[in-house]
Amino acid sequence: MPDGKIRILIVDDIPEARDNIAKLLYFEKDMEVVGTASDGEQSIQMAKSLLPDVILMDINLPGMDGITAAEAIHAQVPSSQLIMISVQEESAYLRRAMLAGAREFLIKPFSGDELVNGIRRVYELEAKRRAAMPAVLPGPPPAAAALPVQGQIITVFSPKGGTGCTTLASNLAVAIRQETEKRVLLIDGNFQFGDVGMLLNLRTNKSILDLLSEGEQVDEELLERTTVEHSSGIRVLLGPPHPEMAELVTAGHMKHILTAVKKTYDYVLIDAWNSLHDLVLAIFDLSDKILLVTTAELTAIKNTKLFFDVMDALGYPPEKIVLVRNRLNGRGGISLPDIQAAIKHPVAMAIPNDWAVANYAIDQGVPFAMSQKGSHIGKAVGKLAQIIAGEREEKQRAPAKKATGLLTLLRG
Ligand SMILES: Nc1ncnc2c1ncn2[C@@H]1O[C@H](COP(=O)(O)OP(=O)(O)O)[C@@H](O)[C@H]1O
Ligand SMILES: [Mg+2]
Repeated sequence: MPDGKIRILIVDDIPEARDNIAKLLYFEKDMEVVGTASDGEQSIQMAKSLLPDVILMDINLPGMDGITAAEAIHAQVPSSQLIMISVQEESAYLRRAMLAGAREFLIKPFSGDELVNGIRRVYELEAKRRAAMPAVLPGPPPAAAALPVQGQIITVFSPKGGTGCTTLASNLAVAIRQETEKRVLLIDGNFQFGDVGMLLNLRTNKSILDLLSEGEQVDEELLERTTVEHSSGIRVLLGPPHPEMAELVTAGHMKHILTAVKKTYDYVLIDAWNSLHDLVLAIFDLSDKILLVTTAELTAIKNTKLFFDVMDALGYPPEKIVLVRNRLNGRGGISLPDIQAAIKHPVAMAIPNDWAVANYAIDQGVPFAMSQKGSHIGKAVGKLAQIIAGEREEKQRAPAKKATGLLTLLRG
């Protein structure tokens, strides 16, 4: 931003659409439209030569679509922040766009305020992230090639109880194991009233407390002793046996434990406590993805929106949070577009409502990912497992490709 302005590239195949956006930005003193492109190929070339701060990219372009162009730009010009523009019916693309590196979405028609605020938000977030980087990368930056392959930590969280976190975390852990045959650890992070042991019918007196008493060294051998194996092949780390013992586990412990488990397991699923205290934030910091579970209930949506506001204020990259709508077609009448409009974040995945299957699984102590894989809900969780496994494989194939992606990961 040489003269203090946010430099913007507009990509849209319709000339009037480009003009309209340019007009909306005309009076913004801190913004400057440095170029316009009418197709994906041209947008990549212009991004490379102009190095804009922000690119407004229409999803629907002739030839190469906006998401493919965004992917290329994200990899080749990581300093440019992408804002995708689409019409409501295209919300299914939003997940792909998010994976392509988009920072923000605008649904047509949008107001001048929405546009300008979106641009500023994305720009400021990137500035904050850059400012934070030297502090979070002490010493010389690690050589990409020297980075060990690290496990993925996926935290399942909801700012409201009863939305299905434990159900999704435990079934997803089993489904990822079935999909990949890799080492999967499920942590019951609800340290007061954890339900994972009951859902998986585990009888044990082992718990996370055993990891605290042994002092500093949490290694593979200790983890094997303190976790229990479930018949699906996943391992499970349970919370303290009594609610009042929860406070024995600190945010510092959690950081230490999660750093260690990443080196031993390929996938770590955490069923997190639904409150925003420092221990949960420590879990978020070390997570690669936060699956944020909501339902269509008004209270769940209100809390989800509040949650995004807090995460934004704390500077968490929005792409770290994957919004999952549970109990699709269940009670509660708020439609998907209305949810997305209220939360201003795309719903990446919807899990169908199936009370009978979900509750039978709990009663039996056998996850539906094992006993009723073919049910709608079983298939949806299986699909989510495939996406998560696919993403990790991609990351491992090209660990050094996306410098910003890696830095974001290290930061987490
Ligand atoms: N997709 C779904 N369809 C129907 N019922 C569900 C679904 N997901 C969860 N449930 C039910 O909702 C209740 C709460 O789920 P649970 O996983 O314990 O939520 P949380 O851990 O967020 O409090 C349980 O009775 C569970 O069987
Ligand atoms: Mg729960």
